[in-house]
Amino acid sequence: MATSISRRGFLRTAALAGGLLTSGALIAACGGGAEPTPTPAASGTPVTLEIGSKGDALEYDKTTLEVPAGSKVTLNLKNNASPGSGVLHNWVLVRPGTLDAVAADGIAAGEANGYLKPNDNRVIAHTKMAKEGETVSVTFDAPPPGTYDFVCTFPGHATLMRGKFIVK
Ligand code: CU
Repeated sequence: MATSISRRGFLRTAALAGGLLTSGALIAACGGGAEPTPTPAASGTPVTLEIGSKGDALEYDKTTLEVPAGSKVTLNLKNNASPGSGVLHNWVLVRPGTLDAVAADGIAAGEANGYLKPNDNRVIAHTKMAKEGETVSVTFDAPPPGTYDFVCTFPGHATLMRGKFIVK
């Protein structure tokens, strides 16, 4: 008799514990589901931008580029310099206020590093150096809304080859 009661008591406790565990799991699942899931920027609308050098001049053919916030941007840079001129260009997007420092550090980094300091966290996106006649591309998620700078970090180009990159 005593054994039987004890056994029923155990079963009831086990059932209660199981019920608590189950409802706890349900609450956790509901809580998780209610949290807004951040939209990955990579799912943004694709936007393609074209920019080139103005022939042999140390200038981009555009000084302002604009994309909607959340875009997945593909930028194509065409180096329009004459074959054999040895004029190379890249396109480097940097955080506001860092353009001159990134360009200076790029020169110090040298040709072996494509005139960019390795793993520079001031750089948001960049192409490699384009040779004369070459087109190079980079795809990246647009940074948060704001105005950023772009620049060519080939030695001697940064003062003339620069522009604004606007995310709206
Ligand atoms: Cu350049």
